[in-house]
Amino acid sequence: MSTLQTNTMTLIDNRDSKVYEFKILDATRGPSVIDIATLYKDTGVFTYDSGYTATASCKSSITYIDGEKGELRYRGIDINTLATKYTYLEVCYLLLHSVLPNKKELLDFDLELRHRSFIEEDLKRLINAFPDSAHPMSILSSSVAALASFHYEHLDMNNEKEYAEMAHRIIAKIPTLAAFAYRKSLGIPFIYPDIDRSFTENFLYMLRAYPGGKMKRTADGIEEIKAIEIKALDTIFTLHADHEQNASTTVVRNVASTGAHPFVAISSGISALWGRAHGGANESVIMQLEMIGSVDNVDKYIAKAKDPNDDFRLMGFGHRVYKNFDPRAKVLKDLQDQLKEELHLDSNLMEIASKIESIALSDEYFISRNLYPNIDFYSGVILTALKIDRPMFTAIFVIGRCVGWVAHLLEFKADAKSKIARPRQLYTGK
Ligand code: ACO
Repeated sequence: MSTLQTNTMTLIDNRDSKVYEFKILDATRGPSVIDIATLYKDTGVFTYDSGYTATASCKSSITYIDGEKGELRYRGIDINTLATKYTYLEVCYLLLHSVLPNKKELLDFDLELRHRSFIEEDLKRLINAFPDSAHPMSILSSSVAALASFHYEHLDMNNEKEYAEMAHRIIAKIPTLAAFAYRKSLGIPFIYPDIDRSFTENFLYMLRAYPGGKMKRTADGIEEIKAIEIKALDTIFTLHADHEQNASTTVVRNVASTGAHPFVAISSGISALWGRAHGGANESVIMQLEMIGSVDNVDKYIAKAKDPNDDFRLMGFGHRVYKNFDPRAKVLKDLQDQLKEELHLDSNLMEIASKIESIALSDEYFISRNLYPNIDFYSGVILTALKIDRPMFTAIFVIGRCVGWVAHLLEFKADAKSKIARPRQLYTGK
């Protein structure tokens, strides 16, 4: 043992007492990892970690999470600072370039995205071919995959300029595709982007405007988009922008690892995000609150959530990484409180949510399992107040997260040592 190096971990195979040494790689922050890349070659065994609860699948310098402390940072900057002091576009620039933009850089980036926000007429026809009953996430995933056929079907992965253009193009077009998907599900005409409007305002405009770009006219005048609504949605985009190796980002990296087109990789990320254990939870939270219906029914549903023989789960509670409050949920809870009066948040839903929250935060079942409200618990009530329909909630998550997926694609591509993702298995068949 005395000859073993200190920056290693020793594995003893008790079947034959052989000793193996594996290098420990230190992170700049957070847990170190054991480099087991040679484990199979050296020992003849694989590791088994279903759900990757103890596996680092890559090296990354984009986002840092401390799940015990409830800390989240993009490129080293705390999420609360980013959400309260910067716009979503500044955060996008930060994720892509590792630094916040100066005034000129921000203006150029903003203008480029505005001008790239239009989609091809043929793509519009593809969206039109979906049934009106189609879920926006189904349309979004398909249309993003289809985008590969319209742009760089034979993308030169080594051409920096082409690759950067691809990155900006997808971030710019996602809100348009999402808005078109939404309007298709309502069976109403599409509204083209307005390049005079900012990224987030433009998205609300494409959801709300009438043909010809007119906004709704009421007895009190024209219903313009309020600055506070833009700020609220912009904050939601920022909070969703990245979250290190979550399920959808891992899917994006894995698909990209085969050399597939980046838009196809992002389309796979959209599909992964749709699930209710991931981004689909925001839609499920509101459905669940509506199903509960009244504060009088909350106890009954809390009991169901705690019953080991009932698979009912409280949507918007729990997280694989956060074992303390989700810091994004904290920002949204504050935002929800600020918006209560101004945006007329649904008081019945808020009352039910608030009772669930207070019971769960003091109940032994939830405390012992570290089940705190996550970001999805609060986002739905705010999105409802922004007059965004429930089936669009996960599409909103996609718009925010798209930049994170792109940043991970760029990081993956820049790593000369990146390999195709190809795990092994513990065979249990005949
Ligand atoms: N309600 C009730 N009990 C729960 C909940 C919940 N929301 N979440 C976890 N538990 C319980 C489990 O039943 C389990 O209990 P047990 O130990 O008695 O068997 C224990 O807590 C651990 O749960 P796991 O499923 O093992 O935890 P995991 O880390 O795999 O799952 C997940 C995390 C998927 C987020 C889970 O908490 C969940 O399903 N939450 C509801 C869906 C949700 O809100 N998803 C959004 C996540 S955030 C995001 O993607 C943006």
